[in-house]
Amino acid sequence: MTELNQIYKCKKCGNIVEVVHAGGGNMICCDQPMELLAEKIQDEGYEKHVPVVEKTEKGVNPVPQETPYANSPTNAKLPKDVILETVGKNLWYGVKVKIGAVPHPMLEDHYIEWVEILADGKTYRKFLKPGDAPEAEFCVEAENITAREHCNLHGLWKV
Ligand SMILES: [Fe+2]
Repeated sequence: MTELNQIYKCKKCGNIVEVVHAGGGNMICCDQPMELLAEKIQDEGYEKHVPVVEKTEKGVNPVPQETPYANSPTNAKLPKDVILETVGKNLWYGVKVKIGAVPHPMLEDHYIEWVEILADGKTYRKFLKPGDAPEAEFCVEAENITAREHCNLHGLWKV
């Protein structure tokens, strides 16, 4: 049985999917069952994978549509990304996710593919590539946050 936000991987072709609606069927790819990736929560050995989450003072985000500023005449003059301090009431804040306590390698054959946070029913994800910093910053309005990341060699981790 699938559950919302589960991550599945095809052992044959490498496809990775996230469940955004749990329909109850089995996940099949390349004519075989996909592997449900376990969310590992404890580091082992030298390499660190568990996300380290820190709250930051401010974040950068498109103007939220629910703010009165979204429909203001001046909105058209705002750049796509706005420092939220300038938007006004700041219920939003920045969340920086680093992988991990010791920065994870970002090599061609071993790197963090994406960083995701689940924040009060909203999902945010940043895709990374080799050479990038193993981190991502999001601007959220949420009380409860779960951070996950996927290493191409070592799988799925969360905090
Ligand atoms: Fe790794």
